[in-house]
Amino acid sequence: MKRPPDSGLLVVFEGIDGVGKSTQIRAVSERLRELGYEVVTGREPTDGPHGRRLRASATEGRLEPEAELELFIADRREHVAGMILPSLARGAVVILDRYYFSTAAYQGARGLDWRVILTRNEEFAPEPDLLIWLDLPPEKSLERIRQRGDPANQFERMHQLELSRQIFSAIARPYLMRLDATESVGTIRDAIVAEVGRLAAARVGPIPG
Ligand code: TYD
Repeated sequence: MKRPPDSGLLVVFEGIDGVGKSTQIRAVSERLRELGYEVVTGREPTDGPHGRRLRASATEGRLEPEAELELFIADRREHVAGMILPSLARGAVVILDRYYFSTAAYQGARGLDWRVILTRNEEFAPEPDLLIWLDLPPEKSLERIRQRGDPANQFERMHQLELSRQIFSAIARPYLMRLDATESVGTIRDAIVAEVGRLAAARVGPIPG
């Protein structure tokens, strides 16, 4: 979706399960708040009714790919209208833990056409200013999941994650930044905070009139 004129920034974190998105989002949000930004965070699937149903399906048994896709899109429509667009309009930095690139990568890994999925989403969902792809091979990401004591869920099987990673690697967007998730939390955070600062500065254009 073409963005309405607003002063906010949309920053999206993507990558397969276990790459460290949540840790990184905490570190980046904290630093940006110290620097004086208003930061709003969200995650998908959301904690709304569609999102809760999707999370339950990860352990109770997955839906058919098409039904699952529709539920992720319904969940996102509510997120965009209820949280993302209003926060951007206020001028906040909106940070998302997963967005429609995950739908392309994961539902694409189940055999749906990931390019069509991107197109469908971009009809209603604002494109990010910055898309952080934390990249890690699935062997390593599954190892991290095991280390934190979580049993891998149905979304997290090795072969599926390999396919999802291949789709992430095929997505080309001018705002995409790939970062090696084996780097330290601090190194990754600093690279992201620097880029957000650059984007925020570029937003301050000439004063009208
Ligand atoms: P995840 O971020 O792992 O949630 P949690 O922090 O609760 O473990 O997301 C749950 C799963 O949902 C994850 O394996 C990826 C999957 N997913 C999709 O398949 N499609 C999507 O569009 C999104 C947003 C997530």
